[in-house]
Amino acid sequence: MKLIAVATTGGDAPGMNAALRAIVKAAIPRGLRVIGFERGYAGLLANDFVFLDDVLVDGLMHLGGTYLKSSRAEAMKTEDGISRAVDVLEGNGVDGFIVIGGNGSFRAACEIQEASGIPIIGVPASIDNDIAGTETTIGFDTAVNTALEAIDKIRDTATSHERVFVVEVMGRNRGFIALEVGLAAGAEVILVPEVEYDIEEVCERLKGISRRGKRSGVVVMAEGAGDCMRVKGALEERTGFEVRLARLGHIQRGGRPTARSRLLACEMGAASVEFLLEGRKRDMTAVQAGRIVPVDLKYASTVEKPFDRRLYDLAMALSS
Ligand code: F6P
Repeated sequence: MKLIAVATTGGDAPGMNAALRAIVKAAIPRGLRVIGFERGYAGLLANDFVFLDDVLVDGLMHLGGTYLKSSRAEAMKTEDGISRAVDVLEGNGVDGFIVIGGNGSFRAACEIQEASGIPIIGVPASIDNDIAGTETTIGFDTAVNTALEAIDKIRDTATSHERVFVVEVMGRNRGFIALEVGLAAGAEVILVPEVEYDIEEVCERLKGISRRGKRSGVVVMAEGAGDCMRVKGALEERTGFEVRLARLGHIQRGGRPTARSRLLACEMGAASVEFLLEGRKRDMTAVQAGRIVPVDLKYASTVEKPFDRRLYDLAMALSS
């Protein structure tokens, strides 16, 4: 193995830069050259890449976003896109490819690997933490902390004005951010796609809280758990509370990675290079029971990650 390629793909996640830095710093002393495709798969398809060295990646550790930039490349869902990607990798003599991204990116990576035989390692980086086979993903901790800081501030004004806030958090069609931030923020209600809810019961819960003397509250709602405007309207109509809506949006994707996101990125980035050198062909660098392990990339990109219902029930029990 002489030349490896790296790309950051899909939604950016804080810590992607730290992972890139770790890959380059682990690869160079092993005699590998490293190229980085720009703008994720879009740059791969356009054959846009830069050579990366350890001096260039110095100073990336604390930066949010991604130095290589990213994109959502629809073309990778087509046979033409996959075959063009294979041509570019083979044309450049790439011996191994590390994809830092989420499960959509990994699905395309598996197809590239199957079509070309080029070894590919996935580094799970997504604020959503929705990738099976790994307990956590690069960027998730940062996003949860960003959302938590915002919700703590919202709590101050909610309490002062005796209002209920519906706070919508990201997560695409999964509720992992909502669950962790909801528990950490002591949210009175957490709405996630994984747990069916009845809006009447949500109203009753808030009314019950009010009867016990609590005059404000926070409802954390995952973006995949329904229409937050409708939830806000229903709560206002049926609970007697004045209700406001805050959508946190892309603020959750940016910012300096937390120490946890950086440490994870360092470990995963370095391990990915080792996995390539060990001869692994199609794996994801994962965390299981606190240890970095390889997991079949196809499994990671096709299986649905289980939701921690016990943690959800705990959150609800503690905030009633
Ligand atoms: O996958 C990360 C994520 O931020 C999701 O939480 C969200 O649903 C989606 O990306 C938003 O994507 P975009 O930035 O392309 O609108």
